[in-house]
Amino acid sequence: MARKFFVGGNWKCNGTTEEVKKIVTTLNQAEVPSHDVVEVVVSPPFVFLTLVKSLLRSDFHVAAQNCWVRKGGAFTGEVSAEMLVNLGVPWVIIGHSERRALLNESNEFVGDKVAYALSQGLKVIACVGETLEQRESGSTMSVVAAQTKAIAEKITNWDNVVLAYEPVWAIGTGKVATPAQAQEVHCELRKWLSENVGADIAASTRIIYGGSVNGANCRELAGQPDVDGFLVGGASLKPEFVDIIKSAT
Ligand code: G3H
Repeated sequence: MARKFFVGGNWKCNGTTEEVKKIVTTLNQAEVPSHDVVEVVVSPPFVFLTLVKSLLRSDFHVAAQNCWVRKGGAFTGEVSAEMLVNLGVPWVIIGHSERRALLNESNEFVGDKVAYALSQGLKVIACVGETLEQRESGSTMSVVAAQTKAIAEKITNWDNVVLAYEPVWAIGTGKVATPAQAQEVHCELRKWLSENVGADIAASTRIIYGGSVNGANCRELAGQPDVDGFLVGGASLKPEFVDIIKSAT
C-alpha cells in the first residue's frame, strides 16, 4: 500500500505571537507538492494552536505537542484530548523523547496516552527512539521495540497513527542519523510491526524520521525506502522547512 509522505514541524516551546505569524506567512506563501503527495502538520505550543489554525492554509494541519492521558478534570496544567477535539485540532504528538526524559513519561504511560487520544478521534504522531548510550551498547532495536510494543498493546487500529523514529542523540544536536542508520531502524520497526501487529498495518503505517533534519540532508533521507517523512524540530521554525516539505517528490 502506498504511504503518503508526511512532514511534521514540531515547534516545541518556541515562539511569540509575531514569530508564529511570520512562520505561518512563510508556509502560506510556499509552493509545495499537493496534499495528494505530502501531508504537512505543524505543531505550535498549545497557546498558539488556535491562532495558527485560524491563519494556516487549509491544506496544512495542526498538531498539539501533548495531551492528558485520560478524560479531563482536576489535572492542573494539563490539556485533554477532548479539548483538542473541541478546538478542531486533528493531530497530537505523543511520547516525544523530551517528555519521556524530562517528565519521566514511561512506555506504559505513553501507550495509555496514545490509546486515549485515538479513542477521542485524534490522530497521533507517536515517538520512539534510543539514547546514545543505548545505541552504543547495541540495544537500539530492543529499546524502540519495547516503546512500540507498549503502544501496540493498547491499540487495535493503526490507521490514525504515524510512528516517529527519533534517535535522542540526533535531536537538536546537528548530528543527523545517516540515511543507512535511519533506514536500518525503520526497516526493523516495520518488520516488528509485521511480526507483532500485522503485515497490512506494517505496510500501511508511516514511519517518519526525526533528529536534526534540515534542508540539506532531507533528500537523501527521504530516498530511503522505509523513511516515509520527517518530524522536524529546529528547521521547522525556518524557511528551509519548505525545502523539507518539497523533499516528498
Ligand atoms: O520533534 C522533533 C525532533 O525532536 C527533532 O528536533 O530537528 O531540532 O533535531 P530537531
